Amino acid sequence: MILERCVCICVCIVIIRLINAKGVEGLPHRILLDTDVDTDDFFALLYILKLNRSEFDLQAVTINTNGWSNAGHAVNHLYDILYMMGRDDIAVGVGGEGGILEDGTILPNVGGYHPIIEQGNSTAGYCRYRQAIPVGAGGKLDIDTNFGIRKSFLPQGSRRYTPLRQPTAQQVMIDKISAGPITVFIIGSNTNFGIFLMSNPHLKRNVEHIYIMGGGVRARNPTDCCPKNSTLSCQPGQCGDRGNIFTDYTSNPYAEFNIFGDPFAAYQVIHSGIPVTLVPLDATNTIPISSNFYEEFEKNQHTYEAQYCFKSLKMTHDTWFSDQFFTSYFMWDSFLSGVATSIMLKSNNSNGENEFAEMEYMNITVITSNEPHGISDGSNPFFDGLKKPKFNLKRNGVHSGHVQTGLGDPFCIVKNGKGRCKVIAFFGFLFMDGYTAEVSGREGLHILVAVRAKPNSDRSSPLNREYFRSFLDVINLQEHTGKFNFTTEFPHYREVLYKPDFKGRKPGKNVVFDMDMSAGDFLALFYLLKLPVEVINLKAILVTPTGWANAATIDVVYDLLHMMGRDDIPVGLGDVFALNQSDLIFPAVGDCKYSRAIPYGSGGFLDSDTLYGLARDLPRSPRRYTAENSVEFGAPRDTDHPELRQPLALEIWESVITSLESGSKVTILTNGPLTNVAKIILSDKNLSYPIQDIFIVGGHISSRKTDKGNVINIPSNEYAELNMFLDPLAAETVLHSRHNITLIPLNIQREVCHFCKILESLYLANKTPEALFARRLLSRMHRLKRTHPRYQHMDTFLGEILGAVILAGDSLVLKATYGVRKVQVLATGVESEDGQIYMDQNKGSSVRILEHVNPLAYYDTFANQLGEEKQSAVIGSFDEQRRMWSVPRI
Ligand SMILES: *[C@@H]1O[C@H](CO)[C@@H](O)[C@H](O)[C@H]1NC(C)=O
Ligand SMILES: *[C@@H]1O[C@H](CO)[C@@H](O)[C@H](O)[C@H]1NC(C)=O
Ligand SMILES: *[C@@H]1O[C@H](CO)[C@@H](O)[C@H](O)[C@H]1NC(C)=O
Ligand SMILES: *[C@@H]1O[C@H](CO)[C@@H](O)[C@H](O)[C@H]1NC(C)=O
Ligand SMILES: *[C@@H]1O[C@H](CO)[C@@H](O)[C@H](O)[C@H]1NC(C)=O
Ligand SMILES: *[C@@H]1O[C@H](CO)[C@@H](O)[C@H](O)[C@H]1NC(C)=O
Ligand SMILES: *[C@@H]1O[C@H](CO)[C@@H](O)[C@H](O)[C@H]1NC(C)=O
Ligand SMILES: *[C@@H]1O[C@H](CO)[C@@H](O)[C@H](O)[C@H]1NC(C)=O
Ligand SMILES: *[C@@H]1O[C@H](CO)[C@@H](O)[C@H](O)[C@H]1NC(C)=O
Repeated sequence: MILERCVCICVCIVIIRLINAKGVEGLPHRILLDTDVDTDDFFALLYILKLNRSEFDLQAVTINTNGWSNAGHAVNHLYDILYMMGRDDIAVGVGGEGGILEDGTILPNVGGYHPIIEQGNSTAGYCRYRQAIPVGAGGKLDIDTNFGIRKSFLPQGSRRYTPLRQPTAQQVMIDKISAGPITVFIIGSNTNFGIFLMSNPHLKRNVEHIYIMGGGVRARNPTDCCPKNSTLSCQPGQCGDRGNIFTDYTSNPYAEFNIFGDPFAAYQVIHSGIPVTLVPLDATNTIPISSNFYEEFEKNQHTYEAQYCFKSLKMTHDTWFSDQFFTSYFMWDSFLSGVATSIMLKSNNSNGENEFAEMEYMNITVITSNEPHGISDGSNPFFDGLKKPKFNLKRNGVHSGHVQTGLGDPFCIVKNGKGRCKVIAFFGFLFMDGYTAEVSGREGLHILVAVRAKPNSDRSSPLNREYFRSFLDVINLQEHTGKFNFTTEFPHYREVLYKPDFKGRKPGKNVVFDMDMSAGDFLALFYLLKLPVEVINLKAILVTPTGWANAATIDVVYDLLHMMGRDDIPVGLGDVFALNQSDLIFPAVGDCKYSRAIPYGSGGFLDSDTLYGLARDLPRSPRRYTAENSVEFGAPRDTDHPELRQPLALEIWESVITSLESGSKVTILTNGPLTNVAKIILSDKNLSYPIQDIFIVGGHISSRKTDKGNVINIPSNEYAELNMFLDPLAAETVLHSRHNITLIPLNIQREVCHFCKILESLYLANKTPEALFARRLLSRMHRLKRTHPRYQHMDTFLGEILGAVILAGDSLVLKATYGVRKVQVLATGVESEDGQIYMDQNKGSSVRILEHVNPLAYYDTFANQLGEEKQSAVIGSFDEQRRMWSVPRI
């Protein structure tokens, strides 16, 4: 019976396939692109968009949030590219709040922020594989901002991320795949599509083919190879290895980033039964961006999209980590778009004939766990501690061995070189048969693989690859070209820097504001900017990206300052890792032991990075993050030219203290993890002497067992406050520094977190642009808190404003009272106690602690100040800016 049914289903599928194949004759190929929006990803996207629309119809783009970019930045970047290209009709899916239960049930709308092996019931979680991707400069910061080019170039349309209204990746996949036959291109890690296939097996029949950029089969990576005649000092990078995980190649020389990002998902996709074609490093390694291609590209920028790609490529080149760009940077994802579309043009093309790559069949699998299989060493959440393995996996099957736990996994560390490293290397390594017994059996899959890029058939051309020619031709086509860029969209566009005129006014207390860019911090910043300069002289802003937002969100700080006419205030970017969390060997990557408390999706990074969808309403500042392009001073980059990049927090602090009149001091107000302040204190340059006092919004003074802290997603840690937890070593450094410290602890913050009350006060205040913006942001957060469980912690941000008000406010009005206590903060590395504060009469440091404040007075003080006509916004919004640039200036 079962067999019969199976046969019937199979026959049906075959029939449907045939009908599909016939039915689509003459119709364009529908395509769904899953991407992590890295630089070469949007090259791929733009190439596809420029192809003949009677042949290729890009239906949707889904964002892989488990790769080289952060969801909030990536989604708006995509919306902007599509707007420029006049393609607001293309669906964009990102994120989702669903989880995977312990019994393996996959809930709807899993956001794909984590590899399947680590997807739990929320969007917070550990960074097992993702930690291989650099977080700051040279990594996600540069990709999120496209090195600073994105905001200078791309126009901004009406589509944007909005909390709970954004279509999710899974929903977009379901909609587009159920609507008819479709081809899927995967150019990030395979998480989204792996989850889709596991939860919608009935929709497989609509997927005609899958093209994957990923893996290294027989590849030998030429990245950063030392030239034969090189001097001894040359350190070979990825040279000769199969993989490209350059941040950890000594322990894992085999893995490639896209497969490594989620090996189990890649396994699901490749073994789905749907025809798969792979474009691995084998092929992409044979198409490095050559200097000839680069020069030809420079000469051929006849469309906005060509300009955008070239500018991005140039910046990548100019900021490259070595002077070997032309042997280390390849056409990865864009090459896939060329190979795939060329294969698709020829019907019944079972050998994958195409213009751009030579193809071969190989028997392949993805190794997701190490031999011996069937062990239980705590590294494999599919089996460990579960009565029944997840997804009905077999106890001794291929997924049941040791799974790499992170970059420093002791299992993977091999003394003296690579020899035994092959064991580790199996992770995410696409494995060709003949190498071990694993693949000759059932697990090997016969798959079409691109093995090398074809040379240009025109031998006289300076472009040595056929695809180089095609890429430049297609990207420069006038048909379907972009409408405009940001500056040409507006006939009267001008860049202005707004600076206040404080002549003749006596500046008050010097303040440096240190923020982690959570929503509350932006509200606090508005407040500080509204205070009369005679009261607060805001000298600088330091940003610490170790808290609620990713580093690229620094652009929102610039935009807010622009709105308030304060383009004179310098902004410094701090370290992306908490103290002692970056990797000793490769400091650009590091652990997420603490930051994993913060969710990636709703209520977490996704919302902070977009300011709950409202950041795009702020006027656009000419100041923004930019990577260091100092190539004119010598490759790869001459870091003696910091003026050419985003300044660092310590640089800004140093410039502030050197500009001080002798004898004057600075007060620091810090609203986030204490990373930046600790770095100032720890600096051996004697940077902390001008600190007057430090106001810390954070810390929890627990007096009863029931009086819990607010560290979310780390159930074992009950009593810490999040800012202390996110960087406990920094907290310890600062609290024990002997500076004058005022703590605004969690229990007092909790007394002032009534959304209704603060909104009432704001309704009564004058309607300045900043008061209106604050009201919109607060009421949006309030609404979210009432409607969705992921927004239960919104109060946390409301409490954060308190520090700014206390710092400058009238103690009598606020009825603020303080006590002095001797406290210690725990920074032991033990998860359950890190960041916890306790009283210690002997060893503790004396700090002043805010013990009481009148909430109503506080709400009114905040609201009234925001409603002040003085020191109000000079340009209220992006819309106002657009109107200004659309008419001539009188
Ligand atoms: C686009 O493709 C269609 C169908 O293959 C073809 O008829 C048409 O000429 C092509 N257009 C261009 C501009 O190449
Ligand atoms: C999520 O899972 C954790 C354990 O993994 C559990 O403690 C927590 O209660 C769960 N939360 C929800 C909302 O199901
Ligand atoms: C926008 O395009 C114009 C015309 O091609 C160009 O002059 C300008 O530099 C571009 N803007 C940016 C920011 O690159
Ligand atoms: C190494 O050889 C290349 C050509 O193969 C040459 O351009 C380069 O100058 C040589 N470098 C040294 C240090 O001799
Ligand atoms: C497709 O190609 C195969 C051989 O590769 C051939 O046997 C078959 O008849 C072809 N089908 C069509 C519809 O052209
Ligand atoms: C590869 O797999 C195909 C089909 O699964 C099989 O026929 C072939 O013998 C395999 N090749 C090798 C070299 O194992
Ligand atoms: C920093 O981390 C290392 C391990 O990476 C540890 O051995 C050391 O004790 C840590 N330092 C502090 C101050 O915790
Ligand atoms: C730090 O600098 C200040 C001002 O220049 C000076 O008074 C103080 O002695 C210095 N402290 C140390 C430890 O060098
Ligand atoms: C702390 O504050 C007191 C009173 O404001 C002041 O006298 C003292 O010098 C300050 N201490 C430090 C280390 O700045």
